[in-house]
Amino acid sequence: MCGIIGYSGHRPAVPVVIEGLHHLEYRGYDSAGVASVQCSDFEIVRAKGKLSALEDELSRRPPSHATTGMGHTRWATHGEPAVRNAHPHESNDGTLAIVHNGIIENYLEIKADLEAKGYVFSSETDTEVLVNLVQECRRSEPDLLKAFAKALRLAKGAYAVCLMSREKPGEFLAARMSAPLIMGIGTGEFFVASDIPAFLPYTRQVVFLEDGELARVDCQGYQIYAIKDLSPVSHEVMTIEWDMQSAQKGGYRHFMLKEIFEQPRVVADGLAGRVARGSGAVHLPELDALPVPERLHVVACGTSYHAGLWGRCLIEQWAGIPVQVEIASEFRYREKLLLGPRDMVLVISQSGETADTLAALRIAKEQGVPLLGLCNVVGSSIAREADSVVFTQAGPEISVASTKAMCSQMLMLALMALAWSARKGLTDEAFRAGIVDGLLDLPKKLEEALPGMHARARELSRKYSGAKNFFYLGRGHCFPLALEGALKLKELSYIHAEGYASGEMKHGPIALIDRSFPTFAIALNDDLLPKVKSNMVEIQARQGRVIALANEGCDLGADDVWIVPDAGKPLSAFFVLPALQLFSYETSDYLGKDVDQPRNLAKSVTVE
Ligand code: M6R
Repeated sequence: MCGIIGYSGHRPAVPVVIEGLHHLEYRGYDSAGVASVQCSDFEIVRAKGKLSALEDELSRRPPSHATTGMGHTRWATHGEPAVRNAHPHESNDGTLAIVHNGIIENYLEIKADLEAKGYVFSSETDTEVLVNLVQECRRSEPDLLKAFAKALRLAKGAYAVCLMSREKPGEFLAARMSAPLIMGIGTGEFFVASDIPAFLPYTRQVVFLEDGELARVDCQGYQIYAIKDLSPVSHEVMTIEWDMQSAQKGGYRHFMLKEIFEQPRVVADGLAGRVARGSGAVHLPELDALPVPERLHVVACGTSYHAGLWGRCLIEQWAGIPVQVEIASEFRYREKLLLGPRDMVLVISQSGETADTLAALRIAKEQGVPLLGLCNVVGSSIAREADSVVFTQAGPEISVASTKAMCSQMLMLALMALAWSARKGLTDEAFRAGIVDGLLDLPKKLEEALPGMHARARELSRKYSGAKNFFYLGRGHCFPLALEGALKLKELSYIHAEGYASGEMKHGPIALIDRSFPTFAIALNDDLLPKVKSNMVEIQARQGRVIALANEGCDLGADDVWIVPDAGKPLSAFFVLPALQLFSYETSDYLGKDVDQPRNLAKSVTVE
């Protein structure tokens, strides 16, 4: 959830670290801090709140000339957002400083032991415990690398950490366990960071550290070791293909808006090389590596979970594969997980680092079922641990609210459904070619539709932003979209919103309806429309206002009708999705909320 960066090279470290933290701020923004060694003493600067507060603090101080440093941007887990809980944290003897992303689960036990030995703590964090544990380990093991490895072996939980010592100001140590950490390999300069954009202005050469590894880094180079026994480890250096421009706002007011408007490109990129107009063939070699499952378990969180629910409709209908979709935090703690020998687990995750999804994958792995990943981030933990991975190729998604990622996940799920369907011989070539042509038409149609949809979203957001509650209703493949619409509205505008299956309203929720409680009804021109219409009438009969997301020519009698292009079932979903995203975007912006960094959230949820 937090972002960390370490740098050792030939430039002043603090500006490099701050620049990197800007690219990591999406991971958490409760506080930020930097550390470097100046005249044999740590200079640690920390500030509560966003990175700008830390920059203000730094601007009041003389510039640091140190060429090694590290930094942190925090999403609070242990201890409230406050300067005392901000990283870096120092050891009691002032010789060590640390930044940490993750949770040390046994920190209270360790803390009690250390307190009994006279250590004192000035924060509530697990991180301050860890740095003092390293100090304590040095009593029996003066070599820092060995002491650090010993401390890490005693710590249970998840971490990506960077440790500096006062005695070796040009060096840092870094380690990872169940939290992302990537090394950037420059010329005479080396980085570690929680995500690649943090050092991408300086190098595209990366090494993905694995769980249980520790690196020693200085401006001359790096060595990697296994934490368990300090045996040396070597990894291939990989080259990142995407550039910095894809991780910047490109003239849009917010990353979220840019990412919504990238969806035509995301669809086009996702289809390139996989399908051709007029053909029902789908080129997905990632699937060919695995048997067609008899039963599919889709596991994901948040927006990725909603994409999985949408994909279920297509996979069941076209490929005849029964699909269960489960929230990862529930799946991982199932009392009895009954996976059959011909089942498959599909984990969906934009970041590829979501802790619950990763844990679910590992649990499924223990049962020996084939594991398919649907990920955006190449080199992420899930991407590396799955047996085979379909990459969504959406490019970096920076806004905390996921948008283009869901579009890309839906696209790939549709392709998977077609590919499995073809392998099982369940649909004919003409049917599949029709769907493929419909998908290939999407980029242009979306490109044309988005500006008008944005304008309509703006109008409706002005009219409805005073509401304190919202329902989002849909049936069939529109039900997951309703869930996603509600999630987007609540996470961005802090307006309470519930997604419901339209037919479920009469079983309780309709009691809430009155004039002040509007409903977004997804009422597309398909076989379920008459049913959705009845549900809308039931709401209006109770004075509820209804905004209908509909196709041209549907007579709906709603308070507001928002016409979106009709691409047929299920492809119209690719227009409903950005409409819902734009409504939440505009509502949030109109209400003056922080669109890209909503309160209490973080982009990559690497804690339980
Ligand atoms: O990276 P992942 O797809 O695994 O992330 C899952 C959720 O944390 C994520 O979709 C979250 O719900 C977003 N804030 C939704 O906008």
